[in-house]
Amino acid sequence: MNGKEKVLAAFGNAFGDTEGVRCFFAPGRVNLIGEHTDYNGGHVFPCAISMGTYAAVRKRNDRKLRFYSANFEKEGVLESSLDTLVPLSNKKWTGYPEGVVWAFEERGFKIPQGFDMAVFGDIPAGAGLSSSASLEVLTGFVLRELFGIRELTNVDLALIGQKSENEYNGMHCGIMDQFASAMGKEENAIFLDTNTMEFEYAPIRLDGMRLQITNTNKKHSLVDSEYNLRREQCQAALSDLQKKLDIKTLGDLTEEEFEENKDLIRDDVCRRRAKHAVYENRRTIRAVAALRAGDIEAFGRLMNESHVSLRDDYETSCPEADILAEEAWKLPGVVGSRITGGGFGGCTVSIVKDEAAETFIKELGRIYEEKTGYPASFYSLSIGSGPKEL
Ligand code: GLA
Repeated sequence: MNGKEKVLAAFGNAFGDTEGVRCFFAPGRVNLIGEHTDYNGGHVFPCAISMGTYAAVRKRNDRKLRFYSANFEKEGVLESSLDTLVPLSNKKWTGYPEGVVWAFEERGFKIPQGFDMAVFGDIPAGAGLSSSASLEVLTGFVLRELFGIRELTNVDLALIGQKSENEYNGMHCGIMDQFASAMGKEENAIFLDTNTMEFEYAPIRLDGMRLQITNTNKKHSLVDSEYNLRREQCQAALSDLQKKLDIKTLGDLTEEEFEENKDLIRDDVCRRRAKHAVYENRRTIRAVAALRAGDIEAFGRLMNESHVSLRDDYETSCPEADILAEEAWKLPGVVGSRITGGGFGGCTVSIVKDEAAETFIKELGRIYEEKTGYPASFYSLSIGSGPKEL
């Protein structure tokens, strides 16, 4: 069964029949470089992936919202209503779609009637490949299509998804994940300046090489609290810098400007966090320039530097992802490898030469299992497009 068939079957099981049901899809994302820069006014370079979340939906004649997930079968059908949406009140998975309904209403788009929605996702849970952002963008897309809210663009859907995650779910994420899901384009990554929201597509054509995702299979944990803490530390560093410098974000600084002024940052930890944000932003700009110039080796080196910075200065890596990246660097035909996403678990993304791909999977898999006692998972990355009706 493909994703559409699975989600339709789930709808039928949960809600009785599938008459008049419409099906939709929105992708997850992987970030190639530019980590923890999106809430620091920096650049990111993610792409949508072919894995994502499927929905089967039907309007209701009352104000009930009924949700069912084939990924959380045991939870059964979870019911709420358009009249009882309260931020931070729902810790279950339905907090994500509910939050998007809430954010639509906050933005002035009243949802006139309830709906039944079944979902099914093929993104491995806790892998840092944005299953939650894909569910948010999916819900936004569903609401726009179901209720004909034509004035909303896909960028609006990304912003609404972020608002719902920030305010309804209490995770103070940046815009990258929702943007990548809403604006994904096949065979392209998205070079986004989160300061201005200007973006360009950059074709990913890797002659003789491939993008490889490797899952630590360590579910990322503590993400929300540690993530929110990183944000606060960057904000504290910025406030210290602003006592002398006329800047709005850490993304406004070059490495040289940072080095000249870093002693303004009083706290040592905050100084390291800010260093990562500044350097990672500059690395991202350089990496995209290298890619455009056809210099994949330089792109790969910047990926490796990104990992080191996330490991040492930003401290959002974890021992498992360090094993994957550091062991990958030693293998033949590996152009670059780094942890991707929010961190504390999840996946690495690597560029691997075609002829080395088999050894990469075999050797890295063997070493990882030897060191951790459990296997990693390998997915070859195909870059997918944004949300769509099926
Ligand atoms: C999470 C957040 C994003 C971004 C990344 C780190 O995925 O949702 O906004 O900050 O972490 O780059």
